Amino acid sequence: MSFRQRILTGDTPTGNLHIGHWVGSVKRRVELQSEHDCFFLIANLHAYTTRADKPGDIHQDCIEVARDALAMGIDPDAAAIFLQSEVPALAELTYLFSMLLPFNRVMRNPTLKDELQVKGQADNYSFGFPLYTVGQTADILAFRAHSVPVGEDQVPHLELTREVARRFNKMYCGVPDKALDEDHESLGGVFPIPLADVGKVGRLVGIDGQNKMSKSLGNAIHVIDSPKQVKKKIGKIYTGQDSRQPTDPGIIDPERNPLFQYLDVFVDDESTKADVRDRYERGDNIGDGEVKMLVADAINALLDPMRERRLAYEDDAKVLSVLRDGTARAIDATEQTLSMAKEVSGTGFFPRTLSI
Ligand code: TRP
Repeated sequence: MSFRQRILTGDTPTGNLHIGHWVGSVKRRVELQSEHDCFFLIANLHAYTTRADKPGDIHQDCIEVARDALAMGIDPDAAAIFLQSEVPALAELTYLFSMLLPFNRVMRNPTLKDELQVKGQADNYSFGFPLYTVGQTADILAFRAHSVPVGEDQVPHLELTREVARRFNKMYCGVPDKALDEDHESLGGVFPIPLADVGKVGRLVGIDGQNKMSKSLGNAIHVIDSPKQVKKKIGKIYTGQDSRQPTDPGIIDPERNPLFQYLDVFVDDESTKADVRDRYERGDNIGDGEVKMLVADAINALLDPMRERRLAYEDDAKVLSVLRDGTARAIDATEQTLSMAKEVSGTGFFPRTLSI
């Protein structure tokens, strides 16, 4: 029996993607897309938690994220890339699910708490800010996803999602109280209880060697950077000593010296890596310049096919056509779930067909 797992994951659109996105999530998605039914969400409504006054920026960011994801190798035939705001079932399920969660339970989510503290401007955050976490449960459950590849910070949202699914299945589908998570579907529950698939390489350090790579901090290497720009950015990395002697090694701790994290992550050849490390540690006739060249070449080799693929999507209309197709597939999948959920929860009266 062949059983294709359904996978849903997504990102809040922030604009152009960088090699930190590749390492942290996109690479894994490219690997998963041929084996599973994949849906990749652009969570543009979530962007309104902090940027409701920037609709034009958010709109364009959606297109940039999609273009770069396609450049990185997401195959639009294999995976559906789609827009959260254009899939009505997501908003409808959010409303229904919000009734199944105690308010205090929503507010206890540690990821949400952190965000409210950092980005919520004291107590002036919108009502919709905490609501986004309930929205995320709908994003996942609307697809009846089995697995959700995410970073560590998203795990509390997955826990909330699992609670919503269990509660819904028990309240409306007659799944017994003591049912095991893996039995919910076979016992008649509308929703499988989804699992978080937490990636190993979370955090790529930026070229400042201090912070996580991030567009807004200006420490990122983007897919749109030219080979020259990549060389220049790598060239500027500070490695501990500017004019050290060969016998005076710089910082080799990859957490503090981005050069060595990049060497680990982007250079494939194990013996080259070991050799460089060894010579650097011993101060054996190797300068930063040589390591930098190696790293810049490796990153450019990774980016080259991405640059090539990106050319086919330079026109916004091409990207929009991919998004339209992906969104239509997302609508099909979620309307099915929604009609099941409406039937058992007493909210369904008239069947409907949606199209875009
Ligand atoms: N909260 C996620 C982020 O900011 C984005 C997201 C929205 C998401 N809905 C999702 C991730 C559903 C996984 C599944 O990165």
